[in-house]
Amino acid sequence: MTLTEQARTILQSNDRGGYTLPTAGLYPFQWNWDASVNALGWMAFDAPRAWEELRWLFKGQWRGGPNDGFVAQINFHEESDTYFPGPGEWGTDGAPGTEGLGTRTSSISQPPLHATMVRWMWMRAVKNAGDVAQADGEIRVLLPKLLAHHRWWYRTRDARNTGLVVNIHPWETGMDNSPAWDAPLASVPATARPYTRRDLGHVEASMRPPKSFYDRMVYLMDFNRAQNFEPEKIMAACPYRVNDIGIISILQRASIDLAALCDEFGLAADAADMGAHVQRTDTAVQALWSPTWQQYVSKDAITGQLLDVPTSAGLLGAYAGFARDLEPTVQQWLGETPYGLPSTRSSFERFEPLRYWRGPVWQHMNMLIATGLKEQGHAALADAIRHRSSQLFAAQGFHEYYDPLSGAGLGGKSFSWTAATYLHWIAN
Ligand code: DGY
Repeated sequence: MTLTEQARTILQSNDRGGYTLPTAGLYPFQWNWDASVNALGWMAFDAPRAWEELRWLFKGQWRGGPNDGFVAQINFHEESDTYFPGPGEWGTDGAPGTEGLGTRTSSISQPPLHATMVRWMWMRAVKNAGDVAQADGEIRVLLPKLLAHHRWWYRTRDARNTGLVVNIHPWETGMDNSPAWDAPLASVPATARPYTRRDLGHVEASMRPPKSFYDRMVYLMDFNRAQNFEPEKIMAACPYRVNDIGIISILQRASIDLAALCDEFGLAADAADMGAHVQRTDTAVQALWSPTWQQYVSKDAITGQLLDVPTSAGLLGAYAGFARDLEPTVQQWLGETPYGLPSTRSSFERFEPLRYWRGPVWQHMNMLIATGLKEQGHAALADAIRHRSSQLFAAQGFHEYYDPLSGAGLGGKSFSWTAATYLHWIAN
């Protein structure tokens, strides 16, 4: 089988009749930012199936109540006992805004990639003229949902319009155990209640977060439930509140793309509204520049301290359209590891090449960072990142993540968004 055939087969075998598992066993549900990347991958060979992925994702969007527009990190479309924490753990059944939803959900969100992926899908549909009529219809249905979701982020996570949204759980960042969260997690109590992890039945412990980390994930999950998911209470008292540069950059880019789609589909007032948020963030993000690392970093929203840790999330600045030129910094990163951009810079003291978001290369991040650099005129650097990704795909296939020093595939196997990234970014 060619790599393209292998990648398509992975999406097809992880398909559960309308939504795609990230990988069977380890992640047996529909994840939020995975779904957007997976839709983009499907779009490369099956447009109707691509749009279906997003329809299934938005089945879980909360409506009404203080969390109107919320899209969860996980949609639990079916039961499974291979994952912790499953649907019963989050306590969201019957929460305000969940009445009549087509699925159970978790209570935290994830980086809102959707509007950008939808715009890229739209661009592909326009190119393959045959898919335009369907794309047009799907986007008209999606736009109000995307707008409601972006407004949820701005309204509940940046009520004072600072330009920098806050996240309330490391799982919400999608970069779960990044060393950037070590300092803010030190103030989060460990849960006292018993629970059983399932991830270690699928992947070696050296590639997954430790127990001390899970104890805090569970504490924060339960804290959210104890506040009845009320944003004001959570934002006043959650012991973990962080301005994550990953979410901020991804939301920024998505709002730019959403404004462009709104303009194209005749929603000028909504486009202007998104534009105002984009402008505020453009200014505010300059406070997240690290002179030490010459890149953007995150901030502890409780203490006001910069979390001065060089992670790949801080290289999304070009993708987000932020003012600083990241080209020299990305060149340095690329010179330090042979297999593409690691999730944490290898010269950083807490870099761990095997452990999830503390070092490994994630291919969708390479795609987003390279795309931004290319758009800002750094085509040679973008091509160098793409070339290294191509080599990893060819040598190792489609893993969850990769060792940036040896190139070995790590984590879950037959991984959907890795395959989707290949189909969108490399195969075409
Ligand atoms: C996990 O369980 O590791 C997931 O990344 C949470 O979203």
